[in-house]
Amino acid sequence: MVELSRSLVYLGCLLVSSTLQIQTVRAAKDVVSQLKLYPQKTMIDATWELQEPTGEVIRYLVSWIPDGVGVATASCYVNSSATSTSACDVYPTLDSCTLYTVTVQPKALGGSTQINTGTPASAAAYTLQDVPPAGSPPEVSSVASRSVTLTWTKPATKCEVVNYTVVYSGQVMWGNHATLEVNSAYSKTTTINIAGLTPYSNYSFSVVAATAAGKGEPSLPTYCVTQEDDDNFRKNLNNDSTSTSSFPPSEPNIGLIVGMLVGISLFLMVLGLLIYFRRQIGASCCKEAPAKHIESPSNKIERDTAGNIPLADQRYTQMSSDAGSQYEIPLLTPPPQLKICFMYILY
Ligand SMILES: *[C@@H]1O[C@H](CO)[C@@H](O)[C@H](O)[C@H]1NC(C)=O
Ligand SMILES: *[C@@H]1O[C@H](CO)[C@@H](O)[C@H](O)[C@H]1NC(C)=O
Ligand SMILES: *[C@@H]1O[C@H](CO)[C@@H](O)[C@H](O)[C@H]1NC(C)=O
Ligand SMILES: *[C@@H]1O[C@H](CO)[C@@H](O)[C@H](O)[C@H]1NC(C)=O
Repeated sequence: MVELSRSLVYLGCLLVSSTLQIQTVRAAKDVVSQLKLYPQKTMIDATWELQEPTGEVIRYLVSWIPDGVGVATASCYVNSSATSTSACDVYPTLDSCTLYTVTVQPKALGGSTQINTGTPASAAAYTLQDVPPAGSPPEVSSVASRSVTLTWTKPATKCEVVNYTVVYSGQVMWGNHATLEVNSAYSKTTTINIAGLTPYSNYSFSVVAATAAGKGEPSLPTYCVTQEDDDNFRKNLNNDSTSTSSFPPSEPNIGLIVGMLVGISLFLMVLGLLIYFRRQIGASCCKEAPAKHIESPSNKIERDTAGNIPLADQRYTQMSSDAGSQYEIPLLTPPPQLKICFMYILY
């Protein structure tokens, strides 16, 4: 009747070796025995038998206690008509790659409440490898014109991450704002340096972790704009066959505007100088001619009296006599230089 035995059974599971400990403790009635565990990625199913039933057991309390925690993080009730977790009232979810102790406790009615009865059974097993959950976005620890260094943290999984894939894409922020092809880089650690990037482009970086079970979901992206390059950058960009327009797009327009402004300014300066000198000549003509006339009226008169007057002198004499002011003289018969004088004034 009294049988005390312990046996350890090692089950080789698909990817993780899990330990199944079947424990049969001393009991007289309502003994849970033949407890078998069936580990999955997020659940450890169990089946058992009830030895020496008294008929008092109304249901079983099945609990899953993670290794090192000590208290059950998941549990369910199984009607006594069934002896499997497939009949759980609530089907729990467990962490993958985690060692759990599974306990099946028979329950009986003790008055108005339920009490433990009979002899429970326990066994332990690891949940299987699962794909990792999405991690947090990577952090940019350094950025250059054609490379970045990223770091990130391991996603919340107890499974071993075998490698990380950084998926990146970008949009050029100059020229035709081309969308850059989606690329990936691999790393076995939680940091990577990605080279071969296009300068001054808005990149997005997402990290995908992989366990032996496969790749998980990508993290949210981190955006990062690569720096502009040195002086050779523009030359190289313009020489790049994939770049159909120059950098930056507004540069040619600015150059054109500046060029036009400089050209117009130079033209006006030259014109101004030309007009200035012409005005000087014109002014000297305008002023000196009457001045001469005024300075040497005696000569004119003398010549006038002598009857040896040239046509020009005759004109001056006539004008000075007709108009009192010497400045009105050119208005009556403006010399060609004076037109430029007026132009200069208008300008
Ligand atoms: C347990 O099983 C009995 C009959 O076997 C049934 O009447 C009862 O509703 C079941 N309880 C639950 C919670 O499934
Ligand atoms: C980069 O692209 C993202 C997504 O389109 C956008 O939210 C972000 O503002 C961009 N960054 C810059 C600097 O343009
Ligand atoms: C990363 O790990 C996954 C899962 O084992 C594998 O399929 C993939 O080939 C690995 N990638 C690299 C680059 O090693
Ligand atoms: C343009 O690029 C090609 C190859 O990338 C190089 O051989 C050539 O010297 C470049 N020309 C100029 C003007 O930079």
